[in-house]
Amino acid sequence: KILILDFGSQVTQLIARRVRESGVYCEILPFNADPARIAAFGASGIILSGGPASVADEGSPRAPDYVFSAGVPVLGICYGQMVMCAQLGGDVKGAEIREFGRAYVDVVEDCTLFDGAWVKGAREQVWMSHGDHISAPPPGFRTVAVSEGAPFAMIADDARRFYGLMFHPEVVHTPHGAQLLRNFTHKVCGLAGDWTMAGFRQAEIAKIRAQVGTGKVICGLSGGVDSSVAAALIHEAIGDQLTCIFVDHGLLRGGEAEEVVRVFGEQFNIRLIHRDASDLFLGQLAGVTDPEQKRKIIGRLFIEVFDEEATKLGGADFLAQGTLYPDVIESVSALGGPSVTIKSHHNVGGLPEFMKLKLVEPLRELFKDEVRELGRELGLPENIVGRHPFPGPGLAIRILGAVNRPSVEILQKADAIYLEEIRAAGLYDAIWQAFAVLLPVKSVGVMGDGRTYDQVCALRAVTSTDGMTADIYPFDMGFLSRVSNRIVNEVRGINRVTYDITSKPPGTIEWE
Ligand code: XMP
Repeated sequence: KILILDFGSQVTQLIARRVRESGVYCEILPFNADPARIAAFGASGIILSGGPASVADEGSPRAPDYVFSAGVPVLGICYGQMVMCAQLGGDVKGAEIREFGRAYVDVVEDCTLFDGAWVKGAREQVWMSHGDHISAPPPGFRTVAVSEGAPFAMIADDARRFYGLMFHPEVVHTPHGAQLLRNFTHKVCGLAGDWTMAGFRQAEIAKIRAQVGTGKVICGLSGGVDSSVAAALIHEAIGDQLTCIFVDHGLLRGGEAEEVVRVFGEQFNIRLIHRDASDLFLGQLAGVTDPEQKRKIIGRLFIEVFDEEATKLGGADFLAQGTLYPDVIESVSALGGPSVTIKSHHNVGGLPEFMKLKLVEPLRELFKDEVRELGRELGLPENIVGRHPFPGPGLAIRILGAVNRPSVEILQKADAIYLEEIRAAGLYDAIWQAFAVLLPVKSVGVMGDGRTYDQVCALRAVTSTDGMTADIYPFDMGFLSRVSNRIVNEVRGINRVTYDITSKPPGTIEWE
């Protein structure tokens, strides 16, 4: 396995994704993690990520000495290359020419990392983002690629198996970057590339059995990808020792509650408690218009109802959660300050303080797309596995202003039409999230010969990789007017449709 030491780059997770795509397991640790822990990881190769600092600055991050004395291959990317250079006796300067974005390198020598990708003499496109550059490589290194702004764009010490790249091989804008990383893990580190989802499934089942023994596990099922895959995997491991609790707040997309019951209760034969708590949730939400207030009410009720159902079961020993790897990666704390709360997030299955259960988190090591792959491996329907993310508070935060049953039904209908058209146009998988929002605004319209005075619906569709930033999806006007026509004609209560053209930032993805 490979260890990635993070120096705070925005794209460190992409390195991990690329390494895993090459069939090699890897984990990310902060550069300043306890050196004993870094050594104990037992890496067959180490990758040093990029980062925002300059090695010329006092107190800027360095790799622990272990990295260069362990006798394993090391690949330094961007800031990682600078660190490598500075710590091994080379010289780094602030660059006169800074390179950001697309750049070209000339391949001046052969290198193992180039196999099947680059050849000597070629000019190759890469993605650069650096201020510093190397003015003298450390002893033992040769230069294998150069660029205008970086005469040592890529350096190699074949004897020690150390490689330094000025550019980012992990991003798609470096077209052969994935092959370079694959050559590092397979050819240089000698790893077989046999880490697969089928293998993960078997190994994880054994781990779950070992952890749980004869204990009882409860799992909050929401119909979302993560809890669905976690439930299916745990069920495969321990069968009826697992009970899933589906707290139905009545704020899911149209038809989804029924689907959860059908797929998990009937098809997978999982012990499932479906608690229809929609009266309770809608009752307490009545008249509430403040977004944070809505979120808090839903979060609190969810835990209450979940706990009530768990108590009825006579308790449990473990709580299953669909925690993913991005939630557990430790951030490079030295570089990030405290952040403000924009929205208080509610995650289905959140552990209340008073339920001191041990956690079963079988997806802790996986990225989202790996969870999807595992879901397919387990036989979950594509409809669930490929589903867009959905917020815990559900449609309550997509109905602006007060929430009630009629408005939920109106929004469910409009949303279903929108998603149906997106699927029919083959656009669903190109979009991170698409949904309709019901506005507490009425406008005048005309239908047939009559005047209408109904609500406005906004459509939202964004592309994103992690929900942290997002761009609007550029539908063509023909598509949007088709959806608009259908919604106004088919959904009573809506007579006007708008398209939200705000990116994130400054907007957020959800409206509340
Ligand atoms: P925003 O609106 O903050 O959303 O740009 C970013 C992503 O988070 C989702 N979201 C939530 N997910 N519980 C969740 O599990 C929540 O309370 C919640 N609020 C927003 C949102 O759908 C988007 O994917």
